[in-house]
Amino acid sequence: MPEFDRFAPPHLDDPYPLYARLREGPPFFADAFGVWVVTRRADVKAVLSDPARFSSEFLIRTPMSPAPGVAETLATGHPEVFALLNQDPPEHTRVRALVAAAFSPRRVRALTPRVERLAGELVDAIAADGAADLIRSLALPLPLLVICELIGIPRADAPRVRGWIEQLKVLTSFGASDAEQVAAAHGSVEFERYLAALIAQRRAHGRDDLLTDVLRGDLTDLEIISLLITLIFGGHETTTNLIGNALLAALARPEGLPDDPDDVIERTLRADPPVQGTFRRTVADTELGGAPIPAGAQLYAALGAANHDPDGSAEPHLAFGRGIHYCVGAQLARVEARIALRTLATRLPGLRAADGFRVSYPANLLHRGPIRLAATWPVP
Ligand code: HEM
Repeated sequence: MPEFDRFAPPHLDDPYPLYARLREGPPFFADAFGVWVVTRRADVKAVLSDPARFSSEFLIRTPMSPAPGVAETLATGHPEVFALLNQDPPEHTRVRALVAAAFSPRRVRALTPRVERLAGELVDAIAADGAADLIRSLALPLPLLVICELIGIPRADAPRVRGWIEQLKVLTSFGASDAEQVAAAHGSVEFERYLAALIAQRRAHGRDDLLTDVLRGDLTDLEIISLLITLIFGGHETTTNLIGNALLAALARPEGLPDDPDDVIERTLRADPPVQGTFRRTVADTELGGAPIPAGAQLYAALGAANHDPDGSAEPHLAFGRGIHYCVGAQLARVEARIALRTLATRLPGLRAADGFRVSYPANLLHRGPIRLAATWPVP
């Protein structure tokens, strides 16, 4: 069995040579993570394209103490942390139809001037300083403010939402202490209560926002809460990391940031995707790329590895997944990244990485993006 020491140096900073070696063999079981690692493009595609064989209902459960009303429903078969992402057909199909309508190109287009305004405000706030961490001052707040606005969460509440997301991260990752988990569980109950109150408000007074659209469907409040959490969680750090990875790529060029960043963004999605992999569970004993895999096994479909497979270099990248779970926010993410890079290029001419800046990445199988990005620019 090959070793999947993904968080050891030098793989944490640059996993792509490791992926290249792993693609030479079939899927294998990685003890350290308890998952089967799938790296070849054809195998990753097969996994993502066949929800009947590879279920999204994998077994990550939030150990939260549920808010009033939540416990009963959890007990009656709503164990997923994330609606949509962790659902299979037919439930997935029903929820997805609702969300896809709410994420219509019209709504994303209508959001563009607001994304521009928000990016402008964030960049203007640091312009006179001549130096900043671009993750903290732009890449992190921009997608958060955008997803809040899209859903219809008041801007003043964005910092609290950010805190709750941090707590959800504690609950969905390994290694947190009991005390941290308890604090995070309290936070996530608070988050649910907050969202329940928002839903009640919106039921009383509809507006032109995503939440109002979703309320027109036949989802229960609990399903809507779960869906909002998916959207907030899924639409935030992913986009932060796309902006971060694309900025790193752009700033590495001698000419710096391009006026038209679309090309850098698309190449980043292929070469250094913000979501490095996604999980599935085998429904029955199966065979994949020459490896026999037992029923109930967890699979890690390594999108970052598949994107570099020379066998698929002429095909579309898999950064947003593929098949029925294809990222519903892909268009929005591209719009946000484009506006972030363009705003920096036009408002901070001469922007470059700070002298001595060294990029580092969190140890995470899902997300990949720079923890900080120290940059400088000339101030008149
Ligand atoms: C699904 C990546 C931005 C919402 C996915 C999947 C990937 C992905 C790989 C498929 C997961 C799977 O098959 O298991 C990304 C990346 C983003 C991004 C790289 C940014 C660069 C967003 C944004 C939103 C969003 C901005 C929402 C505002 C979702 C949702 C799903 C999803 C709801 C689940 C769709 C389903 O299960 O049907 N995303 N995403 N994502 N994404 Fe994104």
